[in-house]
Amino acid sequence: MAWHDQYRGRVVLISGASLGIGKELARQVWTLGGMVIATGRNAQRLEEAAQHICSGSDAEARRRFLTIAGDVSKAEDCRVAVESGLSTFGRIDYLIHNAAVFHFDRIDSASEHVIDQMIDVNIKGCIHLSRAALPALHISRGGILFVSSISAFYGMPEYGLYALSKAALTPLSESLRLENHAHGVFVGLTYLGYTANEPDKRALDAQGTPQPIPDRPHSFTRSREAAARGILRQLIRRQAVSLPSFLGHINWVFSYMMPRLAFLIHQRSYRSILLLLICSLLPLGASLNLRAQAQAQSQNQTQNQNQAQNQDRSVELTVRVDGLKTWGSSQLVIGVFDRAAFPDGRPLHHATIKVDEPRMHWKVSVPMATYAIAVYQDLNRNGRLDKSTFGFPTEPYGFSRNYRPVYRGPLWKDASILIDRDSSADIRLIAP
Ligand SMILES: NC(=O)c1ccc[n+]([C@@H]2O[C@H](COP(=O)([O-])OP(=O)(O)OC[C@H]3O[C@@H](n4cnc5c(N)ncnc54)[C@H](OP(=O)(O)O)[C@@H]3O)[C@@H](O)[C@H]2O)c1
Repeated sequence: MAWHDQYRGRVVLISGASLGIGKELARQVWTLGGMVIATGRNAQRLEEAAQHICSGSDAEARRRFLTIAGDVSKAEDCRVAVESGLSTFGRIDYLIHNAAVFHFDRIDSASEHVIDQMIDVNIKGCIHLSRAALPALHISRGGILFVSSISAFYGMPEYGLYALSKAALTPLSESLRLENHAHGVFVGLTYLGYTANEPDKRALDAQGTPQPIPDRPHSFTRSREAAARGILRQLIRRQAVSLPSFLGHINWVFSYMMPRLAFLIHQRSYRSILLLLICSLLPLGASLNLRAQAQAQSQNQTQNQNQAQNQDRSVELTVRVDGLKTWGSSQLVIGVFDRAAFPDGRPLHHATIKVDEPRMHWKVSVPMATYAIAVYQDLNRNGRLDKSTFGFPTEPYGFSRNYRPVYRGPLWKDASILIDRDSSADIRLIAP
């Protein structure tokens, strides 16, 4: 049987069904022969939605559409919605958590009332309604679907409260899925991308007053029909998670795998993005191989000879490192390289020092010669410079002459310094 035929005779409770995606969900379920329990705070708007959907139908078809005005942030209203649905239809098969309020503004300008509303409606509303409906869903062995958003992946500016309220639905749905699996109840979540808004849609301003929201570019938006169809299909197919939009996939990849890039995109720092993308093509990470422990004892024969020749011409090199993070228990790893070994061979000299100040120094006696120095702060004390999947260092690092790798890893000419008398090399760490 096709998925859409499976709504015939099924009872679906939809929160926030008077407008937007919720109203379209209600229309599709009803059109497919299902029974709808539609909720929303505004009784008149809810009734208008029902009239619009059922217009031209006979009385029997109209009886398949029940409207219950109520606020999901109130546990009592949720109980009433479930009980009314049960007394009218005798069962509930599916629950769709669609109702939500929106707020687009900075977190520091939101009033406490707005903060409470975002949490009470978008998070607690789902909890109250799930708790009220679960006994009926255990009997029907039905399903719950949470309507989340791609903003749950990354807290965007002016979307903070909305994003956090949607992000909270991920662990909530996962816990409910695990808790109710044995009862045969399916729990899923969809991360919707930009969907066409109804003209009546409102977002709360800083004081909590609903305000119209500007039109979105149509090229980015999906239709409400397609969004609702995807949700209903997911519910029948019992697909735990769905991420229907292309933008959502991109957001997911950037947020979890390239958080630095996601940050720059949201900052609209296009020049930095370009540089970062170019860097990601180059094996920067591979050229920063500073293995501390193995490097000390194994200097090669040539080096020993050079040292012997220059024994009487030794000078003192002071490496001064600035920008160290002092939290936690970390260590500073320093390597002094000759030309043959820089940057990924074995250093002539190395040191590992416990970090307790933001600025530290280390002295070593070296024969007069040209050297390059590479350092990194081993934040987790695992003895190596950690790197991301793309080879970027994820711990602070730096080079002599304060060379900052941009398009490629460091070459000898970028970082080499002539040490022909007692001298110092100042290195400021680069934060990853
Ligand atoms: N539109 C998008 O681009 C988009 C993108 C990603 C995810 N989503 C998600 O999709 C869902 C629907 O979005 P939408 O754009 O269709 O929203 P919408 O047009 O603003 O409709 C929201 C619905 O929720 C109801 N509602 C609001 N607060 C409620 C409460 N406390 N109790 C009961 N009902 C309440 C509203 O009716 P009353 O005001 O009468 O209560 C209305 O029916 C939301 O969960 C949203 O986060 C939307």
